[in-house]
Amino acid sequence: MNRKDFGDDFYWGISNAAYQVEGANTAEGKGLSIWDVFTQKRNKIFKGHNGDIACDYYNKFTDDIYLIYQSNIPNYRFSISWSRIFPEGIGQINYKGIDFYNRVIEFCLELGIEPWITLYHWDLPEALQKKGGWTNRDVVQWFNEYVACCIKNFGDRVSKWIVLNEPMVFTGAGYFLGVHAPGKKGLTNFLAAAHHAALCQSSGGRTIRSLQSQSFIGTSFSHSHLEPFRKDDKKDQMAKIKVDALINRLFIEPLLGLGYPVKDLPILNRMEKYILADDMQDLKFDMDFVGIQVYTRELIKHAPLIPFVQANIVKASDRFVHHTIMNWEVFPNSIYEAVKRINEYKGVKQIIVTENGAAFDDVLYNNTISDTLRKDYLKNHLNKLLKAKNEGIKVNGYFVWTLTDNFEWAEGYNPKFGLVHVDFLTQKRTIKDSGKWYKDFLS
Ligand code: BGC
Repeated sequence: MNRKDFGDDFYWGISNAAYQVEGANTAEGKGLSIWDVFTQKRNKIFKGHNGDIACDYYNKFTDDIYLIYQSNIPNYRFSISWSRIFPEGIGQINYKGIDFYNRVIEFCLELGIEPWITLYHWDLPEALQKKGGWTNRDVVQWFNEYVACCIKNFGDRVSKWIVLNEPMVFTGAGYFLGVHAPGKKGLTNFLAAAHHAALCQSSGGRTIRSLQSQSFIGTSFSHSHLEPFRKDDKKDQMAKIKVDALINRLFIEPLLGLGYPVKDLPILNRMEKYILADDMQDLKFDMDFVGIQVYTRELIKHAPLIPFVQANIVKASDRFVHHTIMNWEVFPNSIYEAVKRINEYKGVKQIIVTENGAAFDDVLYNNTISDTLRKDYLKNHLNKLLKAKNEGIKVNGYFVWTLTDNFEWAEGYNPKFGLVHVDFLTQKRTIKDSGKWYKDFLS
């Protein structure tokens, strides 16, 4: 397998996200985000870690983007911190924030790297959370004001946009389970947040298209390939269908005009009270591409005591299968199954894998990290992606998660996903063997 097998117009890239790398969390007029606040709470994050400094990317972005250049990576996906631009979420613009992203964009372009901007990668301004955050329907206006500001300020040089990063994860973990910012729990919070996020993904797309004619617009979904734990067990099969409706279908289907998957997950009927007259129509938007982020497969077991889905994920470690530090099974075929599945939806024009990668224990020895497991993970996933491409599936891009080791949300700095190692005491970067491999692959 080599790069050419994927065709000349295939997008090769690497992804990261503002809160996970930038640091400088109160620098130059930036307002607090929900992650700045959530990480200060007790017992929420592994060892009390936070993103106050992270990879100090705010000050070191030229070094990091230069690493992307040296690694022959032509596309770079990063996110904008909403509260760096609007410290209060809406209203007054912080021009120092705009300036920062202008410098990032310009440096990319100088090096011939195409910037892809994720407009929302989980760091809602805290000022908006005080008004209910994603549970408040006004978020649709707030978000579109912010999106319009980004297009007006960066749209003369950026045409690739990702509206939301993994709405299922930020609403599920942040508003149902309470394990991510803002730490809210319960079905009511979740259903309201989910519907408003779904409205934002389509209306955000419309805002971009209305302001920029040459844009290439997508939005990114988490997607895990699911199987019943016991293949022939009817109850496990049912459990799988429900979990699939929740974690894989909830956001893509309304976008494609199919509505919410209420038939397979009746609890979603309770969303009705948040749905206004024209909403079902407004949830639709014809994206130029669908971004999917694939890491693993999950096996699903019937679990009568689990509310709403009566299902459980059977952890990889309990199944004694090869897994990463995140306890995610290493199962390369999941990427093939995922793109194949998305390809079956009518109305999907192009699929781009906007994240794929793995966290393993890395050992720095003699200035070298021989991360064979990560290298194999990437290679094996790419092989399966090529198989999909050769079968005619409309997949047209692949972005590795991620450039540097960084703040992995509730897991703090423990899991390391980077192609580049970071010593968080000195901020020294060391390219891992997987990074060298990706560079050779792309050359
Ligand atoms: C997120 C990233 C995260 C990665 C690994 C994705 O869910 O978009 O921010 O670091 O997975 O967990």
